[in-house]
Amino acid sequence: MRKYLFIIGLFLTGKNFGQVQPAGNVTAVKVKGQQLLFTMQYAVGEVTVYSPTVVRVRLGEHALGRDFSYAVVNGPATTHVAVNQTPEAVTLLTDSLKVVIARKPFHVAFYTLDGRVINEDEQGLNTSWINSFVTTYKHLQEGERFIGLGEKTGGLNKRGSAYTNWNSDNFGYRTDKDPLYATFPFYIGIHHGLRYGIFLDNSWQTDFNFGASNNRFSSFGAHGGEMNYYFIAGAHVADIITAYTGLTGRMKMPPLWSLGYQQNRYSYYPETEVMRIAQTLREKKIPADGITLDIHYMDKYKVFTWDKQRFPDPAAMSAKLAQLGIKLTVIVDPGIKQEEGYGVYERGKKAGAFIKYPDSTDYTGQVWPGWCAFPDFTGVKGRAWWEKEISKYAGDGISGIWNDMNEISTWGQKMPDNVLFNNEGESATHLQMHNVYALNMARASFEGYKQALNRRPFILTRSGYAGLQRYSAIWTGDNRAEEDHMLLGVRLLYNLGLAGVPFTGMDVGGFTGGASVPLYVRWMQVGSFNPYMRNHTAVNTKSSEPWSYGEQALEIVRNYISLRYRLLPYAYSNFYEATQNGLPLMRTLALDYTDDAAIYRSAFENQYMYGRAFMVAPFTGAEGFGNIYFPAGSWYDLYTDQLIKGGQELALPLTMSKLPVYVKAGSIVPMQSLVQHTGEKPSDTLVLHVYAGGSGSQFMYYEDDGSSYNYEKGDYYRRRITYDPASRQIVLGKVEGAYVSEFKYTKLALHGFGEGELTIGGKKAGSEMEALLAPVSKFDPQGEANEPEGHTIRTVTVSNGQEEMILKY
Ligand code: GLC
Repeated sequence: MRKYLFIIGLFLTGKNFGQVQPAGNVTAVKVKGQQLLFTMQYAVGEVTVYSPTVVRVRLGEHALGRDFSYAVVNGPATTHVAVNQTPEAVTLLTDSLKVVIARKPFHVAFYTLDGRVINEDEQGLNTSWINSFVTTYKHLQEGERFIGLGEKTGGLNKRGSAYTNWNSDNFGYRTDKDPLYATFPFYIGIHHGLRYGIFLDNSWQTDFNFGASNNRFSSFGAHGGEMNYYFIAGAHVADIITAYTGLTGRMKMPPLWSLGYQQNRYSYYPETEVMRIAQTLREKKIPADGITLDIHYMDKYKVFTWDKQRFPDPAAMSAKLAQLGIKLTVIVDPGIKQEEGYGVYERGKKAGAFIKYPDSTDYTGQVWPGWCAFPDFTGVKGRAWWEKEISKYAGDGISGIWNDMNEISTWGQKMPDNVLFNNEGESATHLQMHNVYALNMARASFEGYKQALNRRPFILTRSGYAGLQRYSAIWTGDNRAEEDHMLLGVRLLYNLGLAGVPFTGMDVGGFTGGASVPLYVRWMQVGSFNPYMRNHTAVNTKSSEPWSYGEQALEIVRNYISLRYRLLPYAYSNFYEATQNGLPLMRTLALDYTDDAAIYRSAFENQYMYGRAFMVAPFTGAEGFGNIYFPAGSWYDLYTDQLIKGGQELALPLTMSKLPVYVKAGSIVPMQSLVQHTGEKPSDTLVLHVYAGGSGSQFMYYEDDGSSYNYEKGDYYRRRITYDPASRQIVLGKVEGAYVSEFKYTKLALHGFGEGELTIGGKKAGSEMEALLAPVSKFDPQGEANEPEGHTIRTVTVSNGQEEMILKY
């Protein structure tokens, strides 16, 4: 009977079951402040202005559901919107955008204020449903490029490709594999000098098509739930990332030690082996801050236990490591062994913390420990239980939590659709919750461990969803020790950066297999210019510690890790920037050189910026020459200071000992003396390298205690540094915040500034010439002379005061 009523119902409402069902014509519009409510023939919708550049479109076949998101943490800001209605359309006007919503049928178009189309629904296709699948089709603009979508394989420009989001375990994946581990349904479209972002906030499986097997549309859709997307306009790609992270949140300051070098392997055990690794790092003078314990530290892979044979006294071991300046990160998996007498499991069961079948029995699946139950991180009960269990690591002296296998992985098999999750009080199936599971695991680990440690925890995850940056760093899973993987890794990391996730890394050296010496060396060099640097390798593979590839490799790798440590003030300040505006450390060239066709060419798409100053060209190990593209502006060779004009491509010789790195003219780069770990104090002088040229730049220099949350209460040291070629001055701004800098002096190292008089605060500076460049003279692996080509580097040292200081040249 019900079935017949349903069919009659479909007939009466005009729904085409199994067919393509459009939204139809608009039959009613209600204006509610910044929001428009639409009734269509076959759907309902809301269009809400979040800010002058951000507009949300929400469409459902029936009434709209609970307005809830795991990703979006900030709602609309009050902003001026003018609404104009005609029989054909409703127009919204903000300070930056015109949105025209046609009535017959429902069709959305976004324009600049001067009437240029930024993005519009494809006429005739618009938004439609096929059963529960909903898709919005957008007109493919002439020459349109697409970038972003987070952890996705393929090139920088995604035009002509299609992608799926379904978080998947991908052991030893191929370089064209899709989907990988994490879901970031946010991309940026670029055409005619315009750019916009689209964030589809829907946790079901989502699909994106950027003109793959069609030349008419780009599209995005989900297998269930509502069409729920945010359109973000911006003059620059950076503005779009800032607006997107305005919605989904930004990272907090990471613990300083997590920026140091991290040594991993699957797995270091027993304790003596861990200590041997730590001591060898110190003996061989390889700066390092962390060692990671993989699954073998546990008792039979049971989470929150220790194998007491291998690690009889974890707290004592942590204390010994702490003396060497090494912090421990431990792996945790969501699979909880279903075993009576295993307290963690029993407490979880009692707390009702696990995901369940519809008949209320716990779901079980197989992973490392055998049959397991899985915590329900999408509900308060599950998270509260996990947060309590995880807190015990604080007593063991653990500093970091590495969340693995959280796609959920059950030995690569698909978990049944009918498993139910709490979903913050509104029960939902696996199909709806799959892609947000890891995000919530990372959240529980972050919140639980932050509480337990009472300082910044380091959280790492393999899987995730939009908004992940609020809780965790991410690494790109089980790559292979192959050249293409190193290059793919670079693209994955900068794509994650475009998706608002700044703290990213890959298994440097490759997880499966073994690298050749040149590849290993190159990868470690590139890793030194990654936000998170961990060397990791699988079980039963060749060792991957810096000393495992011979003396020459060791020396080169040591040089680059050392450079990473000298650059910590630069990196840390860049992380601060990420907390403020969401911009990543590792940046595709498309961020600043968006309309330059050359940067999208496959020959150049692996080049990236590390912060605003460095351009890295990550060639694979063995090549003799490499074509490097220099975008507009001028560039200094990091090693020789040779100035290279932008807007050209050059074939340059490659050597194993040097990663091609260039400094953008006009940049400001703070550096410190070499330390072996972040707990060691650098010398009292901060070296501020300023590279003449361009239109100058600004750099927000930032320091705090590196471990607590006191910075949130004003305990930081912040100073804006401005290099302005027009007025021929470098300004160290007035110091802000209550924190006292570690550095008493600032030594300005001026690159390419000529030999004219220097004055500080109006007085002639006692300047001296230095033939050797501080950042590289000791660093050059081959001990070549580092005479800068064509100019000298001048240094001036000043005492750090609180007040503004002006250097004129
Ligand atoms: C997964 C992880 C890998 C880890 C291994 C053992 O494959 O991705 O990093 O070493 O599990 O825990």
